[in-house]
Amino acid sequence: MPNQDIIKLIAQNINKHPERPLSIGVLASGNGSNLQALMDFSKKPDSLFFIKTVIANNPDSQALNRAHHERIKNYLIDHRQFNKKSAFEQKILRVLKEHEIELVVLAGFMRVLSPNFLGQFQNRIINLHPSLLPNHRGLDAINKALRAGDEVAGCTVHLVDAGLDTGPIIAQSSCPIFKHDDPLALKQRIQSLEHKLLPHVVNQIAQAATVKILV
Ligand code: GRF
Repeated sequence: MPNQDIIKLIAQNINKHPERPLSIGVLASGNGSNLQALMDFSKKPDSLFFIKTVIANNPDSQALNRAHHERIKNYLIDHRQFNKKSAFEQKILRVLKEHEIELVVLAGFMRVLSPNFLGQFQNRIINLHPSLLPNHRGLDAINKALRAGDEVAGCTVHLVDAGLDTGPIIAQSSCPIFKHDDPLALKQRIQSLEHKLLPHVVNQIAQAATVKILV
């Protein structure tokens, strides 16, 4: 069950357009399977959000192809092309603002955003992490869980703050770790949880932002 207090906090910070679903910007770096899950969910009749734009910082990210396939505006903004982090972030912010993005979803985005960036989308950026936070923050969370000998793993959707995977937890899903598990087997088990949890949380935020308009 998502934490409704955090959902409400996010909704309070969103000025949702009254006549369309919540507009989402997705930032990704890798395969983009969670972007795919969001796009698939957004086509369902009960979806209250749509993916307006996708940004990847890595030219090899499948997120760009996946967005292109769904005719969603997508941008490669490669951090290696910028001398300063602030210039890289300004470019991303410009795209998000041009598209009137109301909620930013980090779905496997492998860059840490500065406090200045976060301030531009105050309490409107969420992240997905492949562990049961606060366990195994940062990179390599799945291997860390295996190395620690954990018996349970999972994923977390949280509000982004200035720390690394430290923001308030919105929702988690868990699964067992089996003795024979290798990193790929565990990753697949965790990702199948992620593909359900992330769209569910985004839709709950969209619902809360919509209700705020109606009341
Ligand atoms: C996910 O496992 C997410 O938890 C982590 O990065 C991965 C992204 O996977 N932050 P994908 O690119 O969505 O397939």
